[in-house]
Amino acid sequence: MTVDLVSVGLTCADVGARPIDEYPEAGKLSLVPHLEIHMGGLAGVTATVFSQLGGKAAFIGKVGTDGFGDYLLGAMRAAGVNVDGVQRVPGEGSSATIVLISGDGERTFLHHTGATTQLTEDDVDFGLVSQAKALHWGGPAVTPGLDGEPIGRVMRRAREAGVKTSMDTCYDGSGVWFPRLEHALPHLDIVMSSLEEAREYTGKRTPEDIASFYRSFGPEVAVIKLGGDGIYVQGADEEHRLPAHRVKVVDTTGAGDASCAGFLYGYLQGWDLLRCARLANAVGALTVQNMGGAEAIVSLEETLAFMEAG
Ligand SMILES: Nc1ncnc2c1ncn2[C@@H]1O[C@H](COP(=O)(O)OP(=O)(O)OP(=O)(O)O)[C@@H](O)[C@H]1O
Ligand SMILES: [Mg+2]
Repeated sequence: MTVDLVSVGLTCADVGARPIDEYPEAGKLSLVPHLEIHMGGLAGVTATVFSQLGGKAAFIGKVGTDGFGDYLLGAMRAAGVNVDGVQRVPGEGSSATIVLISGDGERTFLHHTGATTQLTEDDVDFGLVSQAKALHWGGPAVTPGLDGEPIGRVMRRAREAGVKTSMDTCYDGSGVWFPRLEHALPHLDIVMSSLEEAREYTGKRTPEDIASFYRSFGPEVAVIKLGGDGIYVQGADEEHRLPAHRVKVVDTTGAGDASCAGFLYGYLQGWDLLRCARLANAVGALTVQNMGGAEAIVSLEETLAFMEAG
C-alpha cells in the first residue's frame, strides 16, 4: 500500500477525568462525571487527522502488548491509517497519560513514557517512507531514541529519496531542547512548533524571529502555532499571521498535532502557504471544541466549510 504521509514518533493513550476540583483522601473513592479515553501523541494524531481529511497516512511507532496498545492501533485503523510499521514491545506498557481536568479546564498530567522510548532509527521502514510524499516526525523530547543525530540521518535519507520532510516539536520537560532537533533541521522542509515550546528551542521571543531562526538552518517553511491567538507561517518570500477562529473551547489537547495534519494536507496538495495555514487554523479550531485531538475532524468538506465561513 502506498501512502502520502508517513508520521513517525509518539502515539499515546490519554485517559481523562473531569471535572475534578478535589482529590479523594488516600485510600478513598470519588465518583467522576466524565471518564474518557482518547488517542493522543503528536505523531499518531497527525497521521489520524491527515487520514480523516482524506489523505493516505501511515504511522510508525511502538506500543506495548497491553490494552492501551490495542486501543491505539484500533483507533488508527478505524481512521484508515496504515499501522503496518508499528511494533508491539513485549512486556512493555504503551505510552499513556492520565489527565485530571478541573472544572475551569486546568489539566494535571501523569505520564508514562512507555514503549515509545524504544523507537530507534532502525524502526523507520524506508520501503514505506521512500514511496511516500512526506515524512513527518512528532517529535523531539518524546522519542529519545530518535532525538539528535539519529533523526538527522533519517531525515537526510528521506530527502535523498525525494521525500518532503517535516517536524512538530513537543515540550521538553528534561530541558535539553535544541540539541534534540539540531541535526534534523538541515534536512527538513517544514518546521512546526508551538510558541511556548519554540521559545525554549530557539531562544527567540516573537513568531517572526522564531521562524527566521528555524529557517536559517535550512527549512523553507516555519509554522508557529499561537494557541488562542491563531497561527503564523513564514516562507521564503512571504509571511502570514491568522487570528484564531472564535469558538467555545472544551479541550485544547492535541489541537496542535491536528493542525499540523491540516497544514501538511494542504502542502502536499500543492496549495499556497496561506491556504495551508488557513486549513491548519480551521482544523485547530474544530479540535479545541471537542475532547481529544484526533476525533473532531470528520471530512475535508466539513473542515473547508468551517474555514470559509470563519
Ligand atoms: N482557543 C482557541 N481558539 C481557537 N483556535 C485555537 C485555540 N487554541 C488553539 N487553536 C488552534 O489550534 C492551533 C494549534 O493549537 P496550539 O497552538 O495550542 O498548538 P500546540 O501547543 O502544539 O498544541 P498541542 O501540543 O496541545 O496539540 C492554533 O494554531 C489555532 O489554530
Ligand atoms: Mg504541540
